[in-house]
Amino acid sequence: MRIIFLGPPGVGKGTQSQRLVEYLGVPQVSTGDMLRQAIHEHSEVGELSEKFLNAGKLVPDPIIIKLVTQRLAQQDASHGYLLDGYPRNLGQAAALDEYLHERETPLDGVLALQVDQEEIVRRLTGRGRDDDRPEIVRERFDQYLRQTAPLAEYYRQRGLLYMIDGTGTTDAVFDRIKSVLEKIRRNHQ
Ligand code: AP5
Ligand code: MG
Repeated sequence: MRIIFLGPPGVGKGTQSQRLVEYLGVPQVSTGDMLRQAIHEHSEVGELSEKFLNAGKLVPDPIIIKLVTQRLAQQDASHGYLLDGYPRNLGQAAALDEYLHERETPLDGVLALQVDQEEIVRRLTGRGRDDDRPEIVRERFDQYLRQTAPLAEYYRQRGLLYMIDGTGTTDAVFDRIKSVLEKIRRNHQ
C-alpha cells in the first residue's frame, strides 16, 4: 500500500506509521527523520537543511523532492510505503503526483490525523526534540496551517482523503487507522 500521513506537528504521524510498518510490511519514509539523520552525519543535505529545521521552516522543495525520490526508488519501497511528513505543500504534492503517475503506482489513501492544538502542545512539550521549543513549535504549526493544511482539500478532490481522530491512546488511534485501511482494501476489490 502507498499511504500518506497528513497532520500537524505532534499529531502522531511518526508514532502511528512506525506501528504500521509491521502491520503492512512496507517501510516508513519520514522526511523529518531523514533530515535529522543527514544533519547528524553532516552530509550535504544536512548542511543545507539544518537552519530550516532549527527555525521550524520547511526545507526548500528541490532538496526534499530529490531526497524522497531517491528513497522511494529503493528496493524495500517497491511494494509500497508510508509517507510521514511528505508532501507538505502543493509543490511537493504535484511532484509526488508526477512521480507516481510516471510509474503507474497510484496512492491508496491519505490519512489525515486530527487533534486539537492544546493536546499538540502537551505532547510536544513531553517529548523534547531540538525543535520542540515553544516558539519553534508555534512556527511549525503556522507553517502547517499555511502550507500543509490545504493538501487535505487537494486529496479530498481526488477521493483519497480519510479523516481520523488522533485523540485517545495510541492503541485507540491505531485501531481507527486499521479500520480505515480495511475500508480502502474493500474499495479496491
Ligand atoms: P517532522 O519531523 O516531520 O516534524 P513534524 O511534522 O513537526 O511532526 P512531529 O514529528 O513533531 O510529530 P508527529 O506527527 O510525527 O508526532 P509523533 O508521532 O512524533 O519535521 C521536522 C522538520 O523537518 C520540519 O519543521 C521541516 O523543517 C523539516 N521537514 C520535514 N519534512 C519536510 C518536507 N516534506 N518539506 C520541507 N521540510 C520538511 O508524536 C509526538 C509526541 O506525542 C511523541 O512524544 C509521542 O510519543 C506522543 N504521542 C503520539 N501519539 C500519542 C497519543 N495518542 N497520546 C499521547 N501521546 C502521543
Ligand atoms: Mg514525526
